Amino acid sequence: MNILILGGGGREHSLAWAVMQNPRCDRLIVAPGNAGIAAIAECASLDIRDAAAVAEFAASNNVDFVIVGPEAPLAAGVADRLREAGLLCLGPSQGAARLETSKRFTKEICDACGAPTAAWARFTDRDSARNHVATNGAPVVIKADGLAGGKGVIVAEDDATAFAAVDSMFGGTFGAAGAEVVIEEFMAGEEASLFVLCDGTTALPIGTAQDHKRAYEGDSGPNTGGMGAYSPAPVLSPEVEKRALEEIVKPCLTEMARRGTPYHGVLYAGLMIADGAPRLVEFNVRFGDPECQVLMARLGAQALDLMYACAEGRLDSARVNWAEDHALTVVMAAKGYPGDYRKGSQIRGLGDCPEDSRNIMFHAGTALRNGRTVASGGRVLNATARGDSLAEAAKRAYALADRIDWPAGFFRRDIGWRALRSG
Ligand code: AMP
Ligand code: GLY
Repeated sequence: MNILILGGGGREHSLAWAVMQNPRCDRLIVAPGNAGIAAIAECASLDIRDAAAVAEFAASNNVDFVIVGPEAPLAAGVADRLREAGLLCLGPSQGAARLETSKRFTKEICDACGAPTAAWARFTDRDSARNHVATNGAPVVIKADGLAGGKGVIVAEDDATAFAAVDSMFGGTFGAAGAEVVIEEFMAGEEASLFVLCDGTTALPIGTAQDHKRAYEGDSGPNTGGMGAYSPAPVLSPEVEKRALEEIVKPCLTEMARRGTPYHGVLYAGLMIADGAPRLVEFNVRFGDPECQVLMARLGAQALDLMYACAEGRLDSARVNWAEDHALTVVMAAKGYPGDYRKGSQIRGLGDCPEDSRNIMFHAGTALRNGRTVASGGRVLNATARGDSLAEAAKRAYALADRIDWPAGFFRRDIGWRALRSG
């Protein structure tokens, strides 16, 4: 089988790593890839948001199966175009991707099927949004409706912050994504993510994870794309996972099918759990980054079989073979991230890292320059490890991170603290 993966971050390196271990993969191309991916697969430069260009590239390279990493190509209709061309693809249609591209859409789906989520209201003008804040009071959560690169959500603990967020969104901070604003009830609890493959009919859970969104230790500092993750998420016990599937994921998938936009691909349900009851925070229509890295570390080669069964509509007969293991990844980022950071600094020590089924250094934002590996993004490396316990996985992941000589980078020392503390 010839496989094309779209994307070039740590998520895509982990997908490539898992796919390459499966003997069904004959040839793997990753577009655009990165320096770590280039060591295990072919990399191609391609505008992955250009649906016609992706379909043409796939056809001319005899690609059998396309795995879409990030949301932007899905929002641009790449999966629709590939399916029209008769290609198998992991990723939802543009219409089904609205579960990530519109907060309001997701809220309407939840309301239509009774899935538990925060109470909400939507606004298209500043004054009514301000009135809503004045009436309800903080804490509230203010969200730009559209895609805002993970920055369009403000959790306002006091009224002044809430008013400022409303003003900033209607003032155009997020462009068209903020022309409509959703204001939600603040939900207390512990967050965790559930990943489910869906083939339009069957929903197959493939793992749980928790990430750390804040840049600095103690979950402080600015929000980022994620500074580390671990799997499984202890708070998503089998009972809570079952409730999330039965009360949230499956009803929403049924509602999507009823509306004529059945969901195909991986669905990432961001959940808030309080007293054993899950409520939906958000859906994403892709794997999380860095959550994918810990899921792939645990699934290994079978990830390809599962994703392929999903694309072929055969999930009803697919099974996940779980090892009783744990995985943890530590994101190594460029100093300054998520604000301004420098690109081009040299990374040393990669050759000294052990590479086996328990220790993997995924590359997120790296490039090769004159034979040297340099940082080319904000999140740069993901030190990832498996173990029989979370503590063992954490110890290995930090041992990997400590082998890297990269003075221009930083990482958090406390990834997994909540789960490690409790057990
Ligand atoms: P989202 O992009 O919708 O996932 O929001 C980003 C983050 O904001 C989430 O991961 C939560 O930590 C937080 N958040 C979003 N909505 C809520 C809510 N209604 N209550 C509490 N926290 C929230
Ligand atoms: N780590 C969060 C995300 O991928 O959206």
